[in-house]
Amino acid sequence: MTGLWAGDALKGRVAVVNGAGSGIGRAIAGALAAAGADLMLSDLAEASAAQTAQGIGRGDLRVEVMASDVRAPAAMEALFARAEDRLGRVDVAISAAGIGGPAALAHEIASADWDAVIATNLTGAFLFAAAAARRMVAQKAGSITLVTSQVSEVAQRNCAAYVASKGGAKMLVKAMALDLAPYGVRVNALAPGFTDTPMTRGGDPGHADSRRQSLAHIPMGRMGRPEEIAAAAVFLASDAATYITGTTVFVDGGYLTV
Ligand SMILES: NC(=O)c1ccc[n+]([C@@H]2O[C@H](COP(=O)([O-])OP(=O)(O)OC[C@H]3O[C@@H](n4cnc5c(N)ncnc54)[C@H](O)[C@@H]3O)[C@@H](O)[C@H]2O)c1
Repeated sequence: MTGLWAGDALKGRVAVVNGAGSGIGRAIAGALAAAGADLMLSDLAEASAAQTAQGIGRGDLRVEVMASDVRAPAAMEALFARAEDRLGRVDVAISAAGIGGPAALAHEIASADWDAVIATNLTGAFLFAAAAARRMVAQKAGSITLVTSQVSEVAQRNCAAYVASKGGAKMLVKAMALDLAPYGVRVNALAPGFTDTPMTRGGDPGHADSRRQSLAHIPMGRMGRPEEIAAAAVFLASDAATYITGTTVFVDGGYLTV
């Protein structure tokens, strides 16, 4: 796993990463490890999270794996309880778990599809962050980062459920940052632009079309690499970001400039 982060900015810290089995979450796990953090890696797909753990390749770090569903309050509680039990405490919590929405005009989205996207991307973000915050408030320190999207800021066609879920997560971050600042806990959003992961590699013609449109709109003229998103996740979790809370860091190749 080749990352961009060098140095031991997170040495001795414990980080929980959800959605660690693929794409951006996997790259975040690798970058946190490169920065020296012990890890609790979680994903709906446990085997994928285990593969991420195997790819870390640092025998000096403690790396645990646990299956969990971000939509389930008990699962989020169990994830942080396990992290504390195995690794002693939780300093950093990052959730990249997410699903794409149905490709449909807003008024044609089936309500079950709407519910599924909101349950994972918005309610899941809340359940993850709240479970993390309950520990961090007690210890009066911590950093929570939710992976949102550039569509938390600008809409995209045929994508209303996903856009709404990410816009909601952006405001959740602000609201939680406000509540948790007195307890020394920072909460931020990390918003990737169009990034090369399994989520964006769908093979259907509609997908290829939206891919072309997205690429044409990016000033840097290319997709992001998961490692480029992950470097910002390490920054937000590190002591280089101790005065940053309630905001969104965009890593989007300039997408939002036009
Ligand atoms: N790839 C992009 O272009 C892009 C752009 C902006 C934002 N994002 C966001 O970045 C995050 C990561 O996306 P990615 O591109 O790496 O996608 P991905 O599909 O490669 O990875 C998503 C991971 O989330 C996990 N997951 C899904 N539902 C879950 C659940 N209920 N509980 C726990 N884990 C669950 C999946 O198993 C998978 O491992 C998502 O939140 C996505 O919305 C991606």
